[in-house]
Amino acid sequence: MTKSRAGFFAILIVVAAATAGVMWLFLNIHDRKEEAQEVAFRLVNLTEDTVDPAEWGKNFPRQYDGYRRTVDTVRTRFGGSEAFQKLDTEPALRRIFAGYAFSLDYREERGHAYMLSDQDETRRVLEREQSGACLHCHSSIIPTYRKIGNGDIQKGFEDVCAMPYAEARKLVDHPIACVDCHDPKTMSLRVTRPGFLNGIKEAMRARGIANYDPNTMATRQEMRSYVCGQCHVEYYFKGDRKTLTYPWHRGWKVEQIEAYYDSVGFADWTHSETGAKVLKAQHPEFEMWNQGIHARSGVACADCHMPYMRDGAIKISDHHVRSPLLNVARACQTCHPQPEAEMIGRVDQIQERTRQLMDRTEAALLALYDEVAGARTRGASASALAPVLALQRKAQFRFDFVAAENSMGFHAPQEAARILGEAIDYARQGQVAAARSAR
Ligand code: HEC
Ligand code: HEC
Ligand code: HEC
Ligand code: HEC
Ligand code: HEC
Repeated sequence: MTKSRAGFFAILIVVAAATAGVMWLFLNIHDRKEEAQEVAFRLVNLTEDTVDPAEWGKNFPRQYDGYRRTVDTVRTRFGGSEAFQKLDTEPALRRIFAGYAFSLDYREERGHAYMLSDQDETRRVLEREQSGACLHCHSSIIPTYRKIGNGDIQKGFEDVCAMPYAEARKLVDHPIACVDCHDPKTMSLRVTRPGFLNGIKEAMRARGIANYDPNTMATRQEMRSYVCGQCHVEYYFKGDRKTLTYPWHRGWKVEQIEAYYDSVGFADWTHSETGAKVLKAQHPEFEMWNQGIHARSGVACADCHMPYMRDGAIKISDHHVRSPLLNVARACQTCHPQPEAEMIGRVDQIQERTRQLMDRTEAALLALYDEVAGARTRGASASALAPVLALQRKAQFRFDFVAAENSMGFHAPQEAARILGEAIDYARQGQVAAARSAR
């Protein structure tokens, strides 16, 4: 072959490759247009009051099918969806939560389909007085707020929080539903929960942004986490009317949340072994994820927990929200080229290390309780023990912030280790102080 001929073939190959590339791009765009059009097929007219997901399912059968699969019960090493009793697998928790409803019944959480029935059936509701505020994150409740508040959702929300649980429970029928995350007219993502809207406004104010409204100011990628942050967050009930409040006024880190609680003089309960006024952390997934490398890299909750999947020619978001470890190919390997076993191994290593630090924290807390009991029998005064109980409060909240977070450290490995390191230190400081308080 002459030189010019070789050049000609080289050009031909380049042109052919480019053409294929353009064709591929064209097909891809065509696909996406079709996906976009999917939204246009409407069999049922959906409104703000269409709570029943089955109605939405008539227009969007694929997403509805995924949603219904959240009834699965599959266990992973540290998570999954089997609602076993944590108080039996981890007996130290009975002492850590001594005197509080969580020492009665505390289970591994499971799929979204169960959220309302599991709340109805927990001994924390059956044997303790609870308020309507519990329903904010366990039911599709916005139409109820609108009705009770005569059109004013914030007012209806506050009024329902102030009701006894049993009374408020009669006003809702469904666990989380499509209308909670989607605008029924446009299907775009949105956040509806007053607790979140009020909370993130405070969090953004702390960062110098006034009147933050995620529904008009957030990016689409941010919304793919905010919809989950409506419920997977730390909270407390404020004042006599039990107004559900997200304690984000100073920021999302454990010590910022603690500083807020200290400033308003809040305690969840009085520890029945030691008398300390302590805090219970609840599922701070959103706050912990925020401290991790994935959040820093712009990876949203939905990227791992609702990854894209193909159904024929159509690409949809998997509405079977669950542990990503049951779905590594789509949840992780879209970004990480490593083999599945390698990815699972990395997660396992992070979780195993976190679990070991948690075991040490539990041991340190139990040693602290024993030392306080010993100091009391030796006649330690209340004022001598006050600084010890303050250290217990710090240690215990930090332990729980990692323990109640449901990824066993994965969402922010180094942050989880930092928090547990501090917890162990505060617990052991308390133990030493208790030993010295009455010699
Ligand atoms: C980079 C991927 C990734 C992101 C982003 C992510 N998670 Fe996770 N999440 C995981 C993994 C891995 C686990 C551990 C699952 C297990 O142990 O079975 C987990 C566990 C959980 C669990 C417990 C699941 C179970 O089966 O017990 C919940 C709840 C959860 N995440 C919620 C969230 C929320 C809410 C966000 C966003 C604020 C988020 N996750 C962001 C990967 C992710
Ligand atoms: C801010 C939102 C929110 C509020 C308010 C809320 N929950 Fe939950 N609840 C969740 C989330 C998220 C989970 C799943 C993660 C977990 O279990 O850690 C959950 C899990 C549960 C579970 C199943 C696991 C377990 O702990 O046994 C029960 C039962 C429950 N909640 C009862 C209640 C009760 C009772 C109240 C009122 C005192 C309440 N919830 C208030 C968000 C909330
Ligand atoms: C309306 C409140 C609410 C919203 C919004 C919400 N969750 Fe949940 N989620 C819950 C509750 C409550 C449970 C526990 C249900 C139970 O144990 O009965 C739960 C359970 C889970 C679980 C455990 C599932 C399993 O199989 O063990 C995962 C994972 C999860 N949620 C992730 C997410 C993600 C990701 C988002 C956002 C796309 C999200 N959730 C949005 C309230 C909510
Ligand atoms: C916890 C929040 C949440 C709930 C509840 C929810 N979705 Fe979604 N949905 C999402 C997220 C996140 C996306 C991805 C949107 C994006 O990236 O713009 C999505 C996307 C969609 C889309 C666009 C196409 C796709 O699959 O990406 C449709 C249609 C849809 N959902 C239908 C439904 C239906 C029907 C239900 C009720 C059965 C439902 N959704 C319940 C969070 C939710
Ligand atoms: C949308 C893309 C995306 C998805 C999906 C994703 N990751 Fe990542 N992951 C990243 C990025 C980006 C980083 C940060 C890389 C860096 O900056 O070096 C990262 C980092 C990590 C790290 C290193 C953490 C550290 O502290 O250094 C681990 C481990 C990891 N990912 C595991 C997972 C697992 C397991 C899943 C699935 C459950 C997953 N990732 C899903 C993009 C993703």
